[in-house]
Amino acid sequence: MAEITLRPEQYRPGPPSDVDLSQYGVGLVGCGSIANSAHLPAYAKAGYTIVACCDVDEDAARSTAERWDIPFWTTDIRALLDRDEVRVIDMALHPAARKETLEAIAQAPRPVLTQKPLHMEYELAAELIAIAEEAGITLAVNQQARWAPDHRALRVLMDQGVVGQVYSIQNLRRSFQDQPGQWWTSLANFNIGDHGVHYLDLCRYFASSPQAGSREWTRLHCTTAMLPDQNGPDPLIYSANVEFGEAGGRVGLMASLQFNNIIRASGAHSYNWWIDGTEGSVWASTKEVWVARADDPRTVHTFPLEGTWFPDAFQGPLGDLIAATAHGRPPAVTPRDNLNTIAMTTAAIRSSKSGRVVERSEVTA
Ligand SMILES: NC(=O)c1ccc[n+]([C@@H]2O[C@H](COP(=O)([O-])OP(=O)(O)OC[C@H]3O[C@@H](n4cnc5c(N)ncnc54)[C@H](O)[C@@H]3O)[C@@H](O)[C@H]2O)c1
Repeated sequence: MAEITLRPEQYRPGPPSDVDLSQYGVGLVGCGSIANSAHLPAYAKAGYTIVACCDVDEDAARSTAERWDIPFWTTDIRALLDRDEVRVIDMALHPAARKETLEAIAQAPRPVLTQKPLHMEYELAAELIAIAEEAGITLAVNQQARWAPDHRALRVLMDQGVVGQVYSIQNLRRSFQDQPGQWWTSLANFNIGDHGVHYLDLCRYFASSPQAGSREWTRLHCTTAMLPDQNGPDPLIYSANVEFGEAGGRVGLMASLQFNNIIRASGAHSYNWWIDGTEGSVWASTKEVWVARADDPRTVHTFPLEGTWFPDAFQGPLGDLIAATAHGRPPAVTPRDNLNTIAMTTAAIRSSKSGRVVERSEVTA
C-alpha cells in the first residue's frame, strides 16, 4: 500500500469555503448552556454571522446577545422570524420545546438545525419530520460528533481503504455524569437516549462507510447496570452488541459499544474507538489516531490530531446546513437518517428493560 497520510484539512470541521457566509445570517433559538459553551464559540471561530437570538428567559437572551455581540435579542420567536436577515435557524432547545418552535417557524419557513437527537421519542421525532416536510422546511440534526477530529479522521482513513473491508467497530467510553442538580441527572433514559445517542449514531456513521459495506443496523442487545446510591433515575452504564444483517452472525460486520458514565475516579476515565478490517486496524483517542496494517504488522503509524470535539465540531453541522442551503442539496444529517439512530437508542432502552434482542423493524414498524 502507498504511504498512509492524514492531513488536518481532511478532517477539520469547517467552515464551508465556497459560500459567502455574510449572506447567511443565523437566528439562534435557545440561549442556554450548550448554545453559550459550544455553539457560539465554534461559530465565532468559523466566522458565521449570528444576527439574532431568542430565549423565553429574558436574562438568557439579553446576556447571550451582550456576550457574543449579537445585534438583536428577543423573548418572542415571531420577532426573530420577522427579520429578513435571519436566513437560517439554529435551535438549541430541549426536545419538549421543539414542536411549538417548529410550528412557529412553519409560518415563516427557514432552514433549521436542531440539537440532537431530533427527539428522544421515536413517534415525536416522526411528528417533527411531518411538520417540517409539510412546511417545506429543510431540517438538519446537530449530530456534531460526526465532525469531531477523532471521528472524522477515523472515517477518512477507513474510506481511504487503509484497513480494507471493515468487520468490527468497537467503542469504550469511561466518564462520570451523575452530578446532582443538573438537568441531565434527572432526565429519564439520559445515558442511552440523550448522551449515548452520540456513540450509537457514530456507530451508524462508521458502518455507512463503503469500506464497511454501507450497512444499516438490524438488531441489538443492550445490557445496563445502575448503582444503588446514584442520583440519576436510570442506568448510567450500557453495553450494546449490534448486528448488521441476517441473524446468525455470518454477516461481515458487527459493533460492540460500551459506555460507563458513573466512574467516580476521574483518573480512570478514557475514550477510544477501534475499527478492524481485513487488511489492518485503525484506532483513536481524542488526541491521536493510529493505524497498523497486516502487511507490516509491527509498525504502528501515529497521527496527532488538531482540534477538539468541544467546541470545534460544532462548526460542522451549521456550516453543512448553510452550504446545503446555498447549493440546494440535503444536509449531511437528515431527520430521516436521524430516525434510524433514534430507533437504535429506542431499541437499546427496550432491550435493557426487557432482556430481549430488539430488531430495528420492530421499532420502525
Ligand atoms: N454535544 C451535544 O450535542 C449536546 C451537549 C449538551 C446538550 N445538548 C442538547 O442541547 C439541548 C439544550 O441543552 P442545554 O444544556 O443548552 O439546556 P439549557 O437548559 O441550559 O438551555 C435551554 C434553553 O432553552 C430555553 N428555552 C426553553 N424553551 C424555549 C422556547 N420555547 N423558546 C426559546 N427558548 C427556550 C431555556 O430558557 C434555556 O435557556 C438538549 O436537548 C441537550 O440534549 C447537546
